[in-house]
Amino acid sequence: MNKLIEIKNVRHTYQTQNGPLPVLDGLNVSVPEGGFAAVVGPSGCGKSTLTRLIAGLMKPDEGEVWLHGERVKGPRSTVGMAFQNPVLLEWRTILQNVVLPLEIVPTKLNRKQQEDRARYLLSLVGLDGFEDKRPSELSGGMRQRASLCRALVHSPDVLILDEPFGALDAFTREDLWQTMHQVKEKEPFTGVLITHDLRESIFLADQVIVLSGRPARTQFLLDVPNTGRRTLDDLYTVQATEMLHTLRHQIEIAQGRAAA
Ligand SMILES: Nc1ncnc2c1ncn2[C@@H]1O[C@H](COP(=O)(O)OP(=O)(O)O)[C@@H](O)[C@H]1O
Ligand SMILES: [Mg+2]
Repeated sequence: MNKLIEIKNVRHTYQTQNGPLPVLDGLNVSVPEGGFAAVVGPSGCGKSTLTRLIAGLMKPDEGEVWLHGERVKGPRSTVGMAFQNPVLLEWRTILQNVVLPLEIVPTKLNRKQQEDRARYLLSLVGLDGFEDKRPSELSGGMRQRASLCRALVHSPDVLILDEPFGALDAFTREDLWQTMHQVKEKEPFTGVLITHDLRESIFLADQVIVLSGRPARTQFLLDVPNTGRRTLDDLYTVQATEMLHTLRHQIEIAQGRAAA
């Protein structure tokens, strides 16, 4: 299958006040078009660094990042990003926040078409009726839904989600997981999800990449079968439990708490 994201043998060291800090040391990630990869690994191992490399916001010291058969050499407008903090602009309405990337990235859409696109996405995530509210009038889960719409509004090739549900309570998070499946059916994307939640990783992704402790390398890959829409009940099957056990064990290895 066509590989949309390819990260080949990436190594990177930050130069800090306390000297060099090697962060990535032999990272290999490959996501086919339409695939959805979850990345899990110990805190501080280099996951957000990986997202910046894919978005072209920084260059690795060594190795290569490819998107759609093109070497990434600078920031890419064809990448959509959402973070744990939805960073919506308080002086703009929800609709205006979602439209924002279309004002920055060149688009053929006129103003009305831009707003229609934003309205459509907001309805897809259950936010119809909230278009004219300000961010502070929405709950944390709703703000995160709006942030997701903003990340998708310019139909990016790649959607990068860096712990987007990490600050939400468990039930809100599960609602958002289901919304993600609905969104992906209607607005197909190739995704990379950074998460600390192993259940989230197998609920949403079709492959889970476990990174080692810093400096991170690709330690383990898990293919998640039945990539279609999942239900929360699927998380309680024997198969899911086995996958979660495997991942938990890999995380303990990555944390240096268990032998490989
Ligand atoms: N721009 C930077 N300069 C120096 N050190 C950084 C920079 N960005 C991140 N780091 C450090 O690199 C390590 C990996 O960071 P990060 O990729 O954010 O990890 P993660 O997202 O897995 O928690 C951390 O120790 C962090 O403090
Ligand atoms: Mg991070």
